[in-house]
Amino acid sequence: MNDKNSTATTSLDWTGSLPSRPAGGASPAAHPTMPAPHVHFPSAASSAAPSATTRATSEADTSAGQAQLSVTGIKKSYRKGPHEVRVLDGVDLEVYPGEFLAIVGQSGSGKSTLLHLLGTLDRPDAGEVYLGDERIDNISARQRDRLRNDYFGMIFQFYHLLPELTALENVLAPMMIRLSTLGYWTNARRLKRKARALLESVGLGHRIKHKPRELSGGEMQRAAIARALIAKPQVLLADEPTGNLDQETGAEIMHILRTLNREQGLTIIMVTHDAKIACQADRVVQLVSGRVEQVGSG
Ligand SMILES: Nc1ncnc2c1ncn2[C@@H]1O[C@H](COP(=O)(O)OP(=O)(O)O)[C@@H](O)[C@H]1O
Ligand SMILES: [Mg+2]
Repeated sequence: MNDKNSTATTSLDWTGSLPSRPAGGASPAAHPTMPAPHVHFPSAASSAAPSATTRATSEADTSAGQAQLSVTGIKKSYRKGPHEVRVLDGVDLEVYPGEFLAIVGQSGSGKSTLLHLLGTLDRPDAGEVYLGDERIDNISARQRDRLRNDYFGMIFQFYHLLPELTALENVLAPMMIRLSTLGYWTNARRLKRKARALLESVGLGHRIKHKPRELSGGEMQRAAIARALIAKPQVLLADEPTGNLDQETGAEIMHILRTLNREQGLTIIMVTHDAKIACQADRVVQLVSGRVEQVGSG
């Protein structure tokens, strides 16, 4: 568990070892570094007139390119005993294809809540969430599950690895869940090769048979990143990914994320309370009193 003991180095041969994203497809908007999603999610971009669940392209969309993911007027409250606590109070935010965005704010300001809403882990009380032109906060739970599995990868401060599984098995777990038993075993060799390649690409090739308790914090986060990438997400959501790591190990994890963003065009939305970590992103926004304020470029 001692990050200082971590000797893993990051192999940066991403093009060789990370899964490539297929080209083509529909929404979100075309972007030089961000091909459209490989999932078949109904696309409003391909239909002529916006329906009740789509929206017209705004002037801002046209000038800055279409947002890949956006929220408008998001409100979210939690009930604490008899009290209702308003956490998000009208959040508007657009995230563009291939962008590395940091969301900062004090502890309890609603960063994780917002990230969960962006990743369809939760639904807002009011407001709308869009993937490209398609509204996604009002789709069925089943559609949301499918979309989340196909479109988003997530990493967390405390890694959330399954303790009884090896690093390799942890990386494979999303595919075991996603595919039928037959589907998994039919593809097992290919998937294992892919999982091993991903672990190698994040500098963990020498630890694939280790269980989480035999890994340092930095190594666990590397395994969690590989797990988040196995299903080829279009957006990586990272909740305080360096929050439990020493500075040096945190910098290594940031280097991996930065490289994924630059070389794979992976859109990353990262929540952090650490200004030094946030400023490594392309753009920083701050949550204050339940709303988003622009801070500037990283
Ligand atoms: N499921 C929940 N039930 C009740 N209160 C919650 C829940 N999730 C978060 N909160 C409260 O909402 C506020 C914002 O939480 P969170 O989004 O986790 O903040 P942050 O990630 O910025 O630290 C906190 O006051 C927290 O206690
Ligand atoms: Mg949080």
